[in-house]
Parts: sequence; structure tokens; C-alpha cells
Amino acid sequence: MAESFECKFTNPRSEIEKEIADLSPWFHNLHLPGGIQTAPNHKLGDFPSFNWLQIAPYLPENINEMTVLDIGCNAGFYSFELAKLGAKVTAIDSNDHYLRQAKWGAEKLHLEKNITFKNMQLYDLINSDEKYDIIFFLGVFYHLRYPLLGLDIVVSRTNKFLIFQTLTLPGDDSFERTPFDLDYEKRGILNQPNWPRMAFIENRLAGDPTNWWIPNIACVHAMLRASGLVIKHKICREFYICEPGEKNQLSHQVNFNFKT
Ligand SMILES: C[S@@+](CC[C@H](N)C(=O)[O-])C[C@H]1O[C@@H](n2cnc3c(N)ncnc32)[C@H](O)[C@@H]1O
Repeated sequence: MAESFECKFTNPRSEIEKEIADLSPWFHNLHLPGGIQTAPNHKLGDFPSFNWLQIAPYLPENINEMTVLDIGCNAGFYSFELAKLGAKVTAIDSNDHYLRQAKWGAEKLHLEKNITFKNMQLYDLINSDEKYDIIFFLGVFYHLRYPLLGLDIVVSRTNKFLIFQTLTLPGDDSFERTPFDLDYEKRGILNQPNWPRMAFIENRLAGDPTNWWIPNIACVHAMLRASGLVIKHKICREFYICEPGEKNQLSHQVNFNFKT
């Protein structure tokens, strides 16, 4: 999704603005010293500051020294906010363009010592046993070709909290929990609009070929539960604070014994 909302920085008037223009296009509007912003004309507004303002009150009061993993860190906005609060941040992204922006932003904000950047696919987390106190998993789920594999891997790396967001299908948020065992003859209810479902995007959505699966809200809840998570807070539509629950779900019997 990032691509369709990216901003080119034009008409640079200072050295730092020239650097911003050279690193264009930007999805994150970073606020830099001296009131400089990287995407001041972002179509979504001051993105993602307005999301951070909603999430921050739900984080533990003191995250100083906690380990945080920012998956799909993009230009690093969330990593920077977390590092400012004293967290030890690992920021991963599979796209070098965004990582270049993030490393540059970290220098400008003097946060480079607090953040480890890695060019990594989410699926590569399978190859490490490291767990993180808090994982930010925002705006990445619908980019995954293998969404439940990705979610299960992320849950297996979460110690305390998973902050989750995905693009969703528009529509009614109300739904009932799915039955424990759906009768074969009653499978027609799978056609009901509020049954947990994901739309598959064969080609592009908003010009982006990496948008693969768009779930409805019922599906988000069901998948989070099925991956062994408990939803602690629904911050707003699409944003959730989750904790690992009892590991008795089928998905946790998945053995990740393979290399990506
Ligand atoms: C829509 S942006 C979201 C950025 C940021 N997390 C946010 O919420 O503002 C998606 C980001 O995830 C990265 N990404 C997509 N698929 C990924 C994957 N499989 N592993 C790691 N990063 C991925 C993209 O390069 C991009 O920076």
C-alpha cells in the first residue's frame, strides 16, 4: 500500500531538504530537527503520527530497556518513537529503499545507537530463536503471500505484546464467534458477508502488486485467535493490542522446521 501513498519531496531549499528529495519517495512523514518533514503533503495527513498517538497510550508505562521488533519498519517512524522511549529496537524491512531512509532518519535524530536495522523478510524470523517483548506488526499482513504462516511466525517471536494492523475490507464490524464445529450441511453460512473471509488480489490493489490478501474484520479476529493470540484492546478499526494466550491452538502445533 505504501507505494500509492508515497510522496515525492520537491523544490528543496536547503542541504537537508536536498537529501530528503534524493531519498524520495517517502511513505512516512518523519519530523526532523528544525521543523523539517519528509512528507509534509502526505495524502493521509501527518502519517503515521496520528496512528502513533492512538497506539502510545496502550503501551506499557515503562518500555525502557524492553526489546522491540518493528516488522516492515519502512522509514522508521515507529522505531524512532520507541527508541526515544528507551526501547532496544530491531527494525526490519525487505526493501532497501525504505531502509536507506530509516538509517538516514536515525542519524538525523541521533538514534542510530538504539536501533539495529536489518534487510530481512518477515519469514526469515524462522531462522532465529530470538523473542521480543513487543512486536509492531503494522501494515504488513496484507502484503504477505502466506499470511497465516507469517502471523504464526510473528506470534512465535512475541514475548508480551503484539501490536497488529492490517488493511481490511470495508463493511459491518459486527459478527458472532464462529461455531466450534460447523455442520457440513450448514456450510452455506460460509457465504454470509460477516463470516471470516479474505479477498485474494490476483493482480494489483491501488497499483501495488504486493497486496495479496484483504481480510474482513471478523477474519482478523478469527485469525488472531487461531494463531494463539488474545485481543486485549481494539484501539480503533484495524489496530489491535494482543498478547500470546494459551498455546493450545492447532496453529501452534505447526513445526517451523524448515529454512526459508
Ligand atoms: C504499508 S508499509 C507499512 C509501514 C509501517 N509498518 C507502517 O505501518 O507505517 C509496508 C512495509 O512492509 C515492508 N514489507 C512488506 N512485506 C514484507 C516482508 N515480507 N518482510 C518484511 N518487510 C515487508 C514494505 O517494504 C514496507 O516498508
